[in-house]
Amino acid sequence: MMTLNSLLLLPLLFWGVMAQCPSAADLVNDSGEKLCARMFENSNMYFDQSCGGKFLDVKNGDDFPYMPLGWGNKISSLVVGNRCTLKVWSKAGKTGNNRSFSAGIVYQLKDYANGLFGDWNDSIQGYYCTC
Ligand SMILES: *[C@@H]1O[C@H](CO)[C@@H](O)[C@H](O)[C@H]1NC(C)=O
Ligand SMILES: *[C@@H]1O[C@H](CO)[C@@H](O)[C@H](O)[C@H]1NC(C)=O
Ligand SMILES: *[C@@H]1O[C@H](CO)[C@@H](O)[C@H](O)[C@H]1NC(C)=O
Repeated sequence: MMTLNSLLLLPLLFWGVMAQCPSAADLVNDSGEKLCARMFENSNMYFDQSCGGKFLDVKNGDDFPYMPLGWGNKISSLVVGNRCTLKVWSKAGKTGNNRSFSAGIVYQLKDYANGLFGDWNDSIQGYYCTC
């Protein structure tokens, strides 16, 4: 059985490994190069735990009418770099609904309307990014 002490410590221990969204201002990759956007597999209703899972880096000028292999309908949160704009489509070949995201953090794509009844969680099927 867990002691009260270890129960209280548990959230603190996990705190350090929680995902955290990068800010639009310091959106760079491992090599320190500025990114146009970074798109993440997971999101979370607790914003400081969003931007988790695998991520897909987007460079200035990246134009993907079709998602890179394995990324179709997978994106749940994203960050767009300063002075950049990420345009996304809900169907392959730049069809379906579209929407533009300017610089900033999108903690939950679920919170963004896609058509009348849908949302953008796991619904990105193409993108274009410019700075
Ligand atoms: C990010 O890092 C890799 C090297 O790890 C590099 O090849 C890539 O072009 C960099 N830049 C961007 C914008 O992704
Ligand atoms: C985005 O969607 C609107 C409304 O359906 C459409 O008129 C427009 O052509 C679309 N833009 C692009 C670039 O696909
Ligand atoms: C996003 O979609 C995936 C797959 O349908 C689902 O597992 C996940 O819970 C969704 N996220 C939110 C925040 O609704």
